[in-house]
Amino acid sequence: MRLALFGPPGAGKGTQAKRLAHAHGLTHLSTGDLFRAAIRQKTPLGVRVTELLAAGELVPDDVTCGIVADTLAEIGTRDFVLDGFPRTVPQAEWLVKHLAEAEAPLDAMISLEVPDDQIVHRLSRRRTDPATGEIYHLDFNPPPADTDLATLVHRSDDQPEAIQHRLEVYHEETAPVEAALRAHVPTVEIDGTGTLDEVQARVDAALAAVGEA
Ligand code: AP5
Ligand code: MG
Repeated sequence: MRLALFGPPGAGKGTQAKRLAHAHGLTHLSTGDLFRAAIRQKTPLGVRVTELLAAGELVPDDVTCGIVADTLAEIGTRDFVLDGFPRTVPQAEWLVKHLAEAEAPLDAMISLEVPDDQIVHRLSRRRTDPATGEIYHLDFNPPPADTDLATLVHRSDDQPEAIQHRLEVYHEETAPVEAALRAHVPTVEIDGTGTLDEVQARVDAALAAVGEA
């Protein structure tokens, strides 16, 4: 199954994509994770995108589609879940064409809906484990009690100013992607509020509804 998880920053795309990947044996393709890995490794791509990510600006479409094309080529015929891509209408159009040429279109898009005020709380209290990639929330999904909190990362774009800017960018440039993709891909909108397990149950039900569970 080939899926795309769509939604605003902090909607829980990464959290639910990891759960889907684990439950269904999918490869998790997060463009944000790919850019952050490039930044950590100080590759030319990483150097180019460091300030864009910290400010909450989008990486240009040609760069982003290029890295997705490379990663899809590595994935080959394995099933995958996209997280954070596509997030502009040109990226959506590129993806539909690219997957059609490979005769491997998306089976479904799951759109997670969470109001902006909850997003600010989710992102300002998020911490990630750089060793495992695990995504925590200090209140809603706390790390194990014996974790040294100093080893966890507070993302550079999870500062108040960058969060607000990411939300603006989402509403202007990314929200229209849903309508653009809906014309090509079975789409289910689900309520992304509630506990992590409640959202996961809704995602599973949504997949069953489109015949992919
Ligand atoms: P990216 O890494 O994709 O960031 P994002 O879309 O802003 O989304 P987040 O990762 O912040 O949130 P999420 O939806 O994954 O939520 P999570 O599960 O972590 O992109 C970062 C940057 O890279 C972009 O700003 C841009 O610069 C660049 N970029 C990436 N893709 C690009 C593209 N296609 N084109 C151009 N540029 C691109 O959850 C958030 C928090 O909430 C966590 O603490 C989690 O524990 C908690 N949480 C999760 N679910 C729940 C729940 N149900 N209840 C309570 N808390 C919850
Ligand atoms: Mg994420």
